[in-house]
Amino acid sequence: MHDENQITNSLSNRNQLYIPEVVSPGGLMLTAAPGTTDIGGGIISATWEFNGNLPGPTIKTNTGTIASILFQNNLPEESIVHWHGLIVNKENDGHPQDAVSSGGNYSYNFPIIQRAGLNWYHPHPDMLTGKQVFMGLAGAFIVNDAEESAFNLPSGNFEVPLIIRDVTLNNGGNINYQPTAGGMFGRSSMVNGSMYPYMKVASAVYRFRILNGANARVMNLAFTKNAEMILIGNDGGLLPSSSIQNSIVISNGERLDILVDFRKFKTGESIILRDLNAQWDLVEFIVTEKKMPLYNGALSTSSNIQPLSNPVVTRTFSFDGMSRINGLEFNMNRIDWTVPLHQTEMWVFVSNGNGPHPVHVHGASFQVVSRTGGRGRIFPWEAGWKDTVLLDDGETVRVLIRFDNYSGIYLMHCHKLEHEDRGMMANFEVI
Ligand code: C2O
Ligand code: CU
Ligand code: CU
Repeated sequence: MHDENQITNSLSNRNQLYIPEVVSPGGLMLTAAPGTTDIGGGIISATWEFNGNLPGPTIKTNTGTIASILFQNNLPEESIVHWHGLIVNKENDGHPQDAVSSGGNYSYNFPIIQRAGLNWYHPHPDMLTGKQVFMGLAGAFIVNDAEESAFNLPSGNFEVPLIIRDVTLNNGGNINYQPTAGGMFGRSSMVNGSMYPYMKVASAVYRFRILNGANARVMNLAFTKNAEMILIGNDGGLLPSSSIQNSIVISNGERLDILVDFRKFKTGESIILRDLNAQWDLVEFIVTEKKMPLYNGALSTSSNIQPLSNPVVTRTFSFDGMSRINGLEFNMNRIDWTVPLHQTEMWVFVSNGNGPHPVHVHGASFQVVSRTGGRGRIFPWEAGWKDTVLLDDGETVRVLIRFDNYSGIYLMHCHKLEHEDRGMMANFEVI
C-alpha cells in the first residue's frame, strides 16, 4: 500500500537498489557538488551529491587505521562534513565554526579509535544542515574490528547498507527543500537514492546496515511475510545480546544492524521492508536464487559491554519548542557548559512540547538508562552504546556519558534537522 502521494511504478521502471561504492578513508577526496540522480520512475532529479552519487560512497575501514580525507566544497554555499558517530577531536568533527565557503576545502586527519559500527557522514554548517542533507548529501562510514569479525557475519553482496529517508520533488522532478519549523517531511520514501527500489536476493542470510537518514520522519520498520529481524547492533556497534524483533522504531540519525534469513522463502517470493508509521513500502526483496549458499556465520551475537556507573554530576536539558535547549537558541561561539575528561555524568533529556526530538551528542557514545513518561521504557535497540536517542513528547530520558578521548568543543542537538537549524543545539567543552 502506498501513501496517496507516493509514486507507484511497475517493476519495469523501478530502480534496482543502488549499492554505493566502498572506499577507504586513507587518502580519500570527498567532493560535495550539485549533480543528478535517477531516483526511479524515469525521473532524473537535480540533487546535491558526494563524489557524484546519492548516497555518497560507503567509507569502510578497521579500528586502528588513519582517515585522511580532503573535503572539497563545490556547493554554491558554505559547508563542512561531520562524521556522525565517530569519536574525533574538535578540528575533525565538522563543527559549524569550521565551515568552508563555496570553492574551499577542508583537510581531515584522524585515527579510528572506536569499536565496529555503522556511522555516517553529512554536512553540518550553521543553519544549512537540513537543506544540504535533504538535497542528498549523506553516506555510510563503517568501522570493522576483530570482535565483530569473529562472528563471521554476512559480507560482500550479503551485507547491504540501507539509507532510508524521504523526499519531495517539484514539478520538474528535482529535490525540493521546503521546510517548516515542525520539520521537513518528504512525500515519498527513498532508499539509497531511489523511490521504492527492489533487490534480487538469494535464499540466504543477509546483513542490513540501516540508517534513518530522513530530516524529520521517525519510522517503524517491519518486513512483510513475518520475516523476522535478528537485531544485532545499533549506533555504537554490537548489542550486549541479539534478539528477534518484528518491528523497530528508528529516529533521525539512529542506526540498526540486523540479520534477515531469507532461506525459508521460495524462489519468486517477495518480502517488503515497510515503514508502519507512514504505511510506506520502502524496499522489495525478491528471492531469485534457489540454491542455498552455505552460511557459516552467526545467527545471534553478543558483546561484553562494560556498563557506565556512579555518575558524579547530573545535568538536565530541556528541549523547548522547536528551537531551544534550556531556553537558549544555538550560538556557535557560546559554550553552555563544561565537562571534565574521564568523568561519568548523568544527562537527563526532558521534552517541553513539539517532540519527537532525537537527541544526539558529539564526542562520545552514551548508555540509555531509563525513559519515564511517554513510552515509559527503553527498547532492545536502545541497549549498548548510542549516540542518538529518541525523546518523545512527555518523556524524560536518562543517559550515562563519559568523555574519555579528547578535550575540546562538541555539540549536542536535536537531530530533527529543522529543529537543529533553528537553534535546538548547544556547544559544550570537554576540559
Ligand atoms: Cu548527525 Cu551533529 O549530527
Ligand atoms: Cu554527530
Ligand atoms: Cu527537536
